[in-house]
Amino acid sequence: PAQFAVFGHPISHSLSPAIHQAFAQQCGIELEYRAIDVPPAGFADAVRRFFADGGRGANVTLPHKAAAFALADKHSVAATRAGTANVLTRLDDGRLAAHNTDGDGMVRDLAERHEVDLRGRDTLLLGAGGAARGVAWPLLDAGVQSLTIVNRSPAAADALADAIGEPARVRTRYWDDLATIGSFDLIVNATSAGVLGVALQLPFALLGSRAVCYDLSYGKAAAGFLDWARVAGARYACNGLGMLVETAADAFVLWHGQRPDTEPVYQTLRRQTA
Ligand code: ATR
Repeated sequence: PAQFAVFGHPISHSLSPAIHQAFAQQCGIELEYRAIDVPPAGFADAVRRFFADGGRGANVTLPHKAAAFALADKHSVAATRAGTANVLTRLDDGRLAAHNTDGDGMVRDLAERHEVDLRGRDTLLLGAGGAARGVAWPLLDAGVQSLTIVNRSPAAADALADAIGEPARVRTRYWDDLATIGSFDLIVNATSAGVLGVALQLPFALLGSRAVCYDLSYGKAAAGFLDWARVAGARYACNGLGMLVETAADAFVLWHGQRPDTEPVYQTLRRQTA
């Protein structure tokens, strides 16, 4: 069967192999999908070896998404905007194509699974790293009213706002000003604080009356932010498990030309990771 893999470090708890196997079973496709743990220094070699040995496609997760973008020969618009890639695909001529499905996966999870109408929402994006860059454009494409980017280091927030180049809708603010910048209808946590085990100190005043809070991570990493959101009175607080399943589905479509039904896979994982 065709060979696929996910590269990360650590990777042992990755849900990607189970997700892709579940999709494959649904679609009657046989595939091999491995989790490959490799530290940053060995990433490029491990990827080249995988594709030289017949690998067709790979997902890439922390901490390799920027390196995956850098080693590819071709880049989709979504990957170029984000500056990172979570999907690598071998083209017929042997070159590697980088793509990023994070933002579209996140928007589809929010808009379709959680039935959140994104249009007209004043949105706060916390973070300006790879994950934040991945979702910024798709949120704007989905019609949010405004996007306020706040990052601990202001330079990265400014760089992202400059790259987007829509000053009427996109602005940056300082982290220290979070207590006084008003309230939002959608708050997206795209920082890696939770993954690093650090609790963000956020003022409750950030939440507007119909606020939806979304953390791009899931499990323990998302718990701190989502607890804060519930205590602060968020209408809706969701983690990034649905996003993970949707991003996997987009990679699956790219590789196999069939769109799987994500809902049963999401429900199974939700029970398992609850
Ligand atoms: P990722 O791929 O997860 O986005 P990244 O590109 O390293 O990883 O970006 C991490 C993001 O989380 C950055 O926006 C970072 O802020 P800085 O640019 O100031 O480093 C943010 N971040 C990490 N730890 C944080 C913390 N304790 N408080 C606030 N922001 C934090």
